[in-house]
Amino acid sequence: MSLLKYVYSNLLSESGVSTGISKKEFRDNHKLCNEALKKVLSDREKGVTKYRELPYKKKCIKEIEAFTKKYKDRIEDFVVLGIGGSALGNITLQTALNPLTYNSLNKKQRNGFPRIFILDNVDPEFIKSYLLILNPKKTMVNIISKSGTTTEAMANFLIFYKWLKENKVNPKEHIIVTTDLVKGVLRKIVDKDGYLSLEVPDGVGGRFSVLSPVGLLSAAFGGINIKRLLKGAEKADIMCSKKNINENPAFMNAYLHYLLYKKGFDITVLLPYANALSTLGDWFVQLWAESLGKKFNLKGEMVNTGLTPISALGATDQHSQIQLFNEGPFNKVINFIRVKRFRTDIKIPAIYKEHDELNYLGNRSISELLNKEYLGTMIALTENNRPNCTFEIPAINEETMGLLLYLFEVQTSFMGAFLNIDPYDQPGVENGKLNTYALMKRKGHEARATQIKDSLAKRKEHFIEY
Ligand code: PA5
Repeated sequence: MSLLKYVYSNLLSESGVSTGISKKEFRDNHKLCNEALKKVLSDREKGVTKYRELPYKKKCIKEIEAFTKKYKDRIEDFVVLGIGGSALGNITLQTALNPLTYNSLNKKQRNGFPRIFILDNVDPEFIKSYLLILNPKKTMVNIISKSGTTTEAMANFLIFYKWLKENKVNPKEHIIVTTDLVKGVLRKIVDKDGYLSLEVPDGVGGRFSVLSPVGLLSAAFGGINIKRLLKGAEKADIMCSKKNINENPAFMNAYLHYLLYKKGFDITVLLPYANALSTLGDWFVQLWAESLGKKFNLKGEMVNTGLTPISALGATDQHSQIQLFNEGPFNKVINFIRVKRFRTDIKIPAIYKEHDELNYLGNRSISELLNKEYLGTMIALTENNRPNCTFEIPAINEETMGLLLYLFEVQTSFMGAFLNIDPYDQPGVENGKLNTYALMKRKGHEARATQIKDSLAKRKEHFIEY
């Protein structure tokens, strides 16, 4: 049985979608394709894309399994403190691979594994609401930060450290740090104070790190089979390493999105028909936006390029965003994800059969309904010349999740190559970070603080107050 079917006919004009890519356009840009492939291959060879090797890093699996085995029975709750790439993959894995009500189950129903909470913001109401329900003696805190300095993660680390101390709990037995092996203040603290720790592999950026200890530790504590996750990624690697574009979905999808982008389709919609994949959209949004939204290309020319990602959910968004996708501007490419077999199903009861509006539903399964809703929407978009493609997976499980995550990462690398930008940096978030340091009076940022103060004083404010 295949693990993935990527259907891209509706991105091509020959299938009847008039806005799609013609055979000529596909052929004429072949040179570009070869260049992108060369770049992706050489980046891997040069170690620029170390995330590509994560499926083969078996050593960290052993470490993670040892931590899980040792601590899982002692705790009730496992809390992740991180942000961006240090949280979104974790959320995606929990949503996809555990029941959506996992944290509401009792420990026995969770097969002895703790509840998992991922706190990825510094909103006081958000953080407080968890501190109120957690038992410090029964909580393991996993602070994740590749750089080991990110403001939001550090603030939450300090809050949880104090909370543990105040409750007479030894932080060294209740905190696991996941960070770079050498850089950052977190590593300094680990080295000095001897916290439990795991390493974010060198050269693996935040949004490409879900298959490293960043994403794997909380997954393992949530009872997810991380070996199978990496197995799926390994299979994706084989598929996404194919040099022939016709055999490589990451390459093909990036190429077609690039050609469509050149024609004004600069919005990428990820539209899974499964609640378990709803947060995959948030993870994808960060990957696509932070990697591709760039001011300069690799030649240093100002290009202000990027594709805007949108996360949606079927069938829910049929009653929300689909109206825009179907009748709004011709600037969106819809990426459906369809699940063939759900892990459970419900038969819709045949009641009120005298009403035609209800009778057709009786004795049909709810998964059939959802999949027909996908089909109906896909056909409607296609007939309306809205380019779309479908990733079809047999079921949601560790293998298919590993496969999808890895595939979208490689697709991002290909897209970066087509756009001729660096998809692995994020200079655009730097200024905001530095301004926060200055505004929070961090040492060494006094000059910027004065600049901000002066500029705010000069600025004329236009406002309405009620
Ligand atoms: O993808 C990225 O590199 C970023 O989104 C980071 O993950 C995010 O800024 C958090 O960084 P860190 O893990 O260093 O705390």
